[in-house]
Amino acid sequence: MEAPFFVKVVLNQEQIRAGVERLAGQVRAWYEERPITVVGVMTGSLVLLADLIRLLDMPLKVGLVQAASYEGTNRRPLSINPDMMPDVVGHDVLLVDDIFDTGHTLVEVVALIRSLGPKSLRSAVLLRKEGRQQVEHHPDFVAFDIDNQFVVGYGLDYCDAYRNLPYVAALEPDELHEPAE
Ligand code: IMP
Ligand code: MG
Repeated sequence: MEAPFFVKVVLNQEQIRAGVERLAGQVRAWYEERPITVVGVMTGSLVLLADLIRLLDMPLKVGLVQAASYEGTNRRPLSINPDMMPDVVGHDVLLVDDIFDTGHTLVEVVALIRSLGPKSLRSAVLLRKEGRQQVEHHPDFVAFDIDNQFVVGYGLDYCDAYRNLPYVAALEPDELHEPAE
């Protein structure tokens, strides 16, 4: 797919594929044959989740938790909806999210899952933004470190648009307005 004129491609499809394969390799090496429960943070992790689980060959279950902290590029208080959470009591849980930015989302979702009593809990993200973290906790598996810029595509959105781009792209600041319907 051609990049629209207003975006700068940060990671192309080949780079993403290589990064997700690297991530899957780390996850396989860590858990080996142990069964795991993969919990995707909706909605941004949707595409990564689908690609990652198909590269894992241990027995696994998939569940979802919904967390939302952005409206456009403005942060709003985090809301977490655990209605689609699978049973994690006594399970080895791998939490999957699209991007680790300030870190607050991951820390809060980690606290929620820990409170449910998993046997173990690790986390994997596609992207980590350089120099933005405000928390001590870091994800265990990270595919790419990127500069501090607002990115979309491969599941990441701006006002719920652009999740379907098969690459990761930075929106230029003058494009950060409501996308056309
Ligand atoms: P954190 O709580 O600041 O780490 O933010 C994490 C969440 O904010 C991610 O799960 C994303 O949904 C969203 N987010 C952070 N940075 C970006 C971005 O550059 N593009 C799109 N979504 C982002
Ligand atoms: Mg998210």
